[in-house]
Amino acid sequence: RIRSYFPKCVAVVALLALSVGVLDTFSAAVHEYTVILPNRTETPVSKEEGFLLMNKNIDVLEKAVKLAAKQGAHIIVTPEDGIYGWVFTRESIYPYLEDIPDPGVNWIPCREPWRFGNTPVQQRLSCLAKDNSIYVVANTGDMKPCNASDPQCPPDGRYQYNTDVVFDSGKLVARYHKGVESTPQKQSRCTTMTWKQRVVSCCYQTR
Ligand SMILES: *[C@@H]1O[C@H](CO)[C@@H](O)[C@H](O)[C@H]1NC(C)=O
Ligand SMILES: *[C@@H]1O[C@H](CO)[C@@H](O)[C@H](O)[C@H]1NC(C)=O
Repeated sequence: RIRSYFPKCVAVVALLALSVGVLDTFSAAVHEYTVILPNRTETPVSKEEGFLLMNKNIDVLEKAVKLAAKQGAHIIVTPEDGIYGWVFTRESIYPYLEDIPDPGVNWIPCREPWRFGNTPVQQRLSCLAKDNSIYVVANTGDMKPCNASDPQCPPDGRYQYNTDVVFDSGKLVARYHKGVESTPQKQSRCTTMTWKQRVVSCCYQTR
């Protein structure tokens, strides 16, 4: 099913081309790969176990980033759920989530890894972008605590977002919370985000 991401994500690249008007041309890489999935479980794993799994997927991504950069790509777009997979319940995905701040905070996680708590995924993505001088577009999970002062706050006291992030030279430059919770029943999934004043999106069918 990962293969099906490929042609439609090319649309993202085409849209990005519109947005990078300042450059005459740029090269983009779209990376597809078989995501290493965690075991299906209702019981949340520890944060460490979660990160071990995500680290394996980022290892795969790292090779692709290096290769793309070596071949002159300016940006690499990686698939939805490419870091932790999709075999989760609301509870079991929790250990995989990080606090992803608003990009306005001007943050290079590779330089200041602890500024927003324990955020090893953002740190690695940031370092990949920085060390290879390439934009990295990735999909991961954001978590925001809330409480009864917010009538919309879910009973478990947190919002969870399927989130797209973009790193430029290590800096977090875009964050998009997907509007629709991903559910296996949904016929198609779309990922949309604003980057350089343009809305870019990527849609694809799930089986
Ligand atoms: C899944 O479970 C098996 C058997 O318990 C274990 O060997 C394997 O390491 C687990 N995989 C992950 C990704 O945790
Ligand atoms: C509840 O949430 C608000 C907004 O996030 C925060 O300012 C406040 O400190 C929280 N209250 C408690 C008791 O945690």
